[in-house]
Amino acid sequence: MSKKQGGEISTAKKSGFGSKIGFVLAAAGSAVGLGNIWRFPYLAAKYGGGIFLLIYVILAVTFGFSLMITEIAIGRRTGKSVIGAYKAIDKRFSFLGVLAAMVPVLITPYYCVIGGWVLKYLTVFVTGSGSAAAGDGSFFSNFIGTTAEPTVFFLIYIVLTAAVVMLGVQNGIERISKFMMPVLVVLTIGIGIYTMTLDGAMEGVKYYLLPNFENFTFQTFLKTVAAAMGQLFYSMSLAMGIMITYGSYMRKEDALESSVRQIEIFDSGIAILAGLIIVPAVFVFSGGNAEALNAGPGLMFITLPNVFESMAGGQIIGAAFFVLVALAALTSSISLMETVVSIISEKFHLKRIPSCLITVGICVVLGMLSVLGYSAWDTITIFGYQMLDFFDFLTNNIMMPIVALLTCLLIGYVVGTKYIEDEVLCGEQKFDAKLLVKIMLRFVCPVCMIIILITPFVVTL
Ligand code: PFF
Repeated sequence: MSKKQGGEISTAKKSGFGSKIGFVLAAAGSAVGLGNIWRFPYLAAKYGGGIFLLIYVILAVTFGFSLMITEIAIGRRTGKSVIGAYKAIDKRFSFLGVLAAMVPVLITPYYCVIGGWVLKYLTVFVTGSGSAAAGDGSFFSNFIGTTAEPTVFFLIYIVLTAAVVMLGVQNGIERISKFMMPVLVVLTIGIGIYTMTLDGAMEGVKYYLLPNFENFTFQTFLKTVAAAMGQLFYSMSLAMGIMITYGSYMRKEDALESSVRQIEIFDSGIAILAGLIIVPAVFVFSGGNAEALNAGPGLMFITLPNVFESMAGGQIIGAAFFVLVALAALTSSISLMETVVSIISEKFHLKRIPSCLITVGICVVLGMLSVLGYSAWDTITIFGYQMLDFFDFLTNNIMMPIVALLTCLLIGYVVGTKYIEDEVLCGEQKFDAKLLVKIMLRFVCPVCMIIILITPFVVTL
């Protein structure tokens, strides 16, 4: 153990987070992203409102909690990036580190493409021309259907992300998270209060919060659980090396268990609040038609501009909303990029700036595939998916559950959960959830992973 930890602790200390709150805000910043604001509300509305929320929260405090604490503990104990971390635990599992590392390499580019779309909408609303984005959706399809503009916004977004990553963990990531996260919370609460006071909004709040047991069968229950589990992964930035990387920068003396609880409260809280913004607002706009919420990805870029257009003060609310989305997306893409940078710098013994430049290069090349997939190359599909959707499906539905499944088996059965317990006890007197984590890693999580992996192939969600 001393061999594994000795030198690395000092490296982690040198370039790591300077405080527990800094770590918690950065990790929460990673977790709170497009997933919370755009994906969670429409999934909740689709899968029975309150039932989905309840299942989600139960899964978050059991399954999500156990996986997050495991990843952060692995990171802090090994002090390494994702590839090095799995190798340090067990050489035979080195391939798992490589598989986990491929996830952020594939996600960062397309996440930055969507980040570019958010910047475009932010610009439109801030310059007072939000009305242009309202209508039948042609604004959005015309925008992503061209190559030049989405490329420019994509590049601006990457530069913003890379600028923070280049400044380093403490000077860049920690500092920006300490500023952005409180702003994000204030904006979410402020916009939420405004939309809930709109005439007719309470119907939407009820629709969102109260469980809808109508037509609730065992099959719908399974689908809801699978959707909630998938969302949890996405939302908590699990199984993609992010939490391992951030864990490697965490101070030994900081309490791990309570940090994970705080990150979870942040993540689930913002997701639930985002639903309180979006569901009632769409409800009011559509005259109570729940179908309007099923717009999927189009919800944020097509439905919401119409909602803002129809609202008093909609331009300002729209601008504030897209600032909120941009902040949420940026803190997430920063963590995605940092994970790739840490892998490159460790593997090739490079300093931060060159590693970051290489990462940007990879992101630009792969991201352009997603940009072109909607414009010049929109006839090319992979297994019926458009390029961006393919990367999303491959990572979220296949690679991440496999990484999580094998991580549970590695820790649960090969090295034993004491590996995690010892690390938690470095910074705390006791580990309250010790038994929970053991049961989750050994029995529940592996079964959940298998459910996530097979569900898309057995039932249509
Ligand atoms: N957790 C972040 C979000 O909810 O948006 C970041 C993220 C997770 C991005 C998973 C992409 C992804 F596939």
